Amino acid sequence: MPKAKPSLSARASSITPFHVMDILSQAKQLEARGRDIIHLEVGEPDFSTPEPIVRAGIEALKTGKTHYTASLGLPALRQAIASWYQTQYQVTIEPERIVVTPGASGALLLLMGTVLDKGQNVLLADPGYPCNRNFALFLEAKGKSIPVTAENNYQLTSADIADYWDEKTALALLASPSNPTGSVLSRTDLSALAAAVKAKNGLLAVDEIYHGLIYDEVDTTTALAIDDDAFVINSFSKYFGMTGWRLGWLVAPKAYISVMDRLAQNLFLAAPTVSQYAALAAFSDETNTILQRRHQQFQSRRDVLVTALGKTELEIKIPAQGAFYIYADCSKLLNEQLPDSMALTKFWLEKAGVAVTPGNDFGDYLSSQHVRFAYTADESRIVEAIDRIAALH
Ligand SMILES: Cc1ncc(COP(=O)(O)O)c(C=O)c1O
Repeated sequence: MPKAKPSLSARASSITPFHVMDILSQAKQLEARGRDIIHLEVGEPDFSTPEPIVRAGIEALKTGKTHYTASLGLPALRQAIASWYQTQYQVTIEPERIVVTPGASGALLLLMGTVLDKGQNVLLADPGYPCNRNFALFLEAKGKSIPVTAENNYQLTSADIADYWDEKTALALLASPSNPTGSVLSRTDLSALAAAVKAKNGLLAVDEIYHGLIYDEVDTTTALAIDDDAFVINSFSKYFGMTGWRLGWLVAPKAYISVMDRLAQNLFLAAPTVSQYAALAAFSDETNTILQRRHQQFQSRRDVLVTALGKTELEIKIPAQGAFYIYADCSKLLNEQLPDSMALTKFWLEKAGVAVTPGNDFGDYLSSQHVRFAYTADESRIVEAIDRIAALH
């Protein structure tokens, strides 16, 4: 019998891959051959999950907490997240407005699935988190990428909202701190953006997944403190060090919750149960002490990386105030042999054993002239990585 030809949907075929995965797999191959590789490419903390969370997870397993939870999440966890908004930001959020999801990824998919119709679009910053465009594509909607520059802190502005909003725009999706630039929206910026979206009678969503990881004195807060109608995406992945547990959340206006409940029931049934019980320990004082210490370590690594890059021709155009990324302009290092950031990062990996992500993963706008460093290695390795790169140029 002839083999059936794989039938792929146009929707699935249109999804773009991550270049960083190529870099990662090449790095792994080099490591398997005995090369010492410094990893500054992957967007996850190198720290493992804080011990109190791990203990709570083990306890959940031992006590048979292995069945489905309600689709919107464990009531105790929704309450704990609501209390966290109160203590962190002095914002009162009813637990009923919180949907626990499989990572921020689940929250983004749920949000877009709820508010975006086929043919509509969502405004996104370029550079920005690449999956957002693909989520929109998967829904036969469109990510409308707006070039953002260092002059505007690599964030959308209220003027962008006014200029780019069209009759098919349903939503503006921001991220603060941003991936890949680490830039943070101030309270003033957030207010202006919220007002601009309201003027269009549209919806505003802010991805706050890197919120606990802000290093400078920035007058900022959760978008919920400014606009009670905003959708806020967050996660246990980054600040809480739980990437592999696949747990995040979405705060939505009450009117959307019952539809989101139905959608969540169908798309994922519920977020992982053991992870939800484990996350109940994420807000304890003991965990907080660990996370505060890590925060200081990230800040100090950021400073070390900025200083080290300052001695190279890589240019950092804004202070990287949050997340664990530095987005650097590499145009001064490009030439005929190394025409773009993709070639440059391959060269660094092969010749220096340093893995860094090319800008192309985050959009189109000047992306071949930029690279993203993740400071997810300890300080001595960061210094060594930049020394190795500098020696090549
Ligand atoms: C800005 C941003 N949003 C969402 C995610 C998805 O995170 P997760 O699904 O692990 O919570 C990431 C992961 O890198 C991210 O950088």
